[in-house]
Amino acid sequence: MKTYKIALLPGDGVGPEVINSALTVLKKIEEKFGIKFEFKEALVGAVAIEKTGSALPEETIKTALEADAILFGAVGDPKFDKDPSAKVRPEQGILGLRKLLNLYANIRPIKTYECLYHKSPLKKEVVEGVDFVVVRELTGGIYFGEPRGRSEDGNKAFDSMVYSREEIRRAAKVAFELALKRRKKLTLVDKANVLATSRLWREEIKEFSKNYPEVEVDYLYVDNAAMQIIKRPAEFDVILTTNMFGDILTDEASVITGSLGMLPSASIGERDGKKRGLFEPIHGSYPKAAGKNVANPTGQILSAAYMLRFLGEDKAAQAVEKAVDKVLGKGVFTRDIDSQNYVSCSRFGEEVAREI
Ligand code: IPM
Ligand code: MG
Repeated sequence: MKTYKIALLPGDGVGPEVINSALTVLKKIEEKFGIKFEFKEALVGAVAIEKTGSALPEETIKTALEADAILFGAVGDPKFDKDPSAKVRPEQGILGLRKLLNLYANIRPIKTYECLYHKSPLKKEVVEGVDFVVVRELTGGIYFGEPRGRSEDGNKAFDSMVYSREEIRRAAKVAFELALKRRKKLTLVDKANVLATSRLWREEIKEFSKNYPEVEVDYLYVDNAAMQIIKRPAEFDVILTTNMFGDILTDEASVITGSLGMLPSASIGERDGKKRGLFEPIHGSYPKAAGKNVANPTGQILSAAYMLRFLGEDKAAQAVEKAVDKVLGKGVFTRDIDSQNYVSCSRFGEEVAREI
């Protein structure tokens, strides 16, 4: 029987709850598709800091390196937001994993569901048929560039935005390959009117796009892109952008769908000659809802579907996605979508499993 080693990193807040719902679904997949998962759970984020002093303990690093894929919940705890001088922060858990596993491309699909059009803050005509993907460069740019920190006298702080051609090309490859399988449109989002790194991106993408003559490429400044994503989201197909711009634009884009809880993400790359993948919902740890069994596990469940596809289990991935569509189509919603008539987080997972 095909066996996959899966590192389970639930993290903070609602992370463990949504991971549990995804597990209910994956157990059903084992039954139906004759594959097996060896799950190994590890600590990350604020819970890891509490138990070990580090947001990414050695044991977790080991588990992540040994796994075929990582299913990740969420990290973050408001405790740490109040103290800007804190040396250890929950976010170091996810940032450290991205760097450790060299997960250089982050894929975030933004798709609206007909049954949720009414939940979107945008008009129905605008959100109808929205289906695009943001490919965010994930291990470079201002998130990791050196030098960074404080001046000696402590009166200045700096972060460096650095990109190499190689970093741009490998993220671009993921985006162009994706575009080929989709509507063959790619938009590079940058700030080439101001930033040197953005000009390198444009130069490199112009050159790189010659390998993909079928793909139509256009270029948008990030400020304009922020506006267009709200004005005409249905026109985008694949958006390729840098680490920081991608972080901001995907939060913006996520509200189009009506609930942040719906959206999955895949972070992919390679290390030691092995393909690496980490799969997480794009929502955060939502501390206010933690322990109440009310979070929406859809983003986590769809992230598990992405993971299945990454492992080569396309049919299983499709089965999960179809089941989610069906359950939503039947009007089975969590509280974020219908505050009157809703099912719990765990129940939603059971409904999806049953549909499979
Ligand atoms: C995200 C998050 C992270 C990021 C945080 C938790 C460090 O906002 O995955 O979008 O900024 O990349
Ligand atoms: Mg973010």
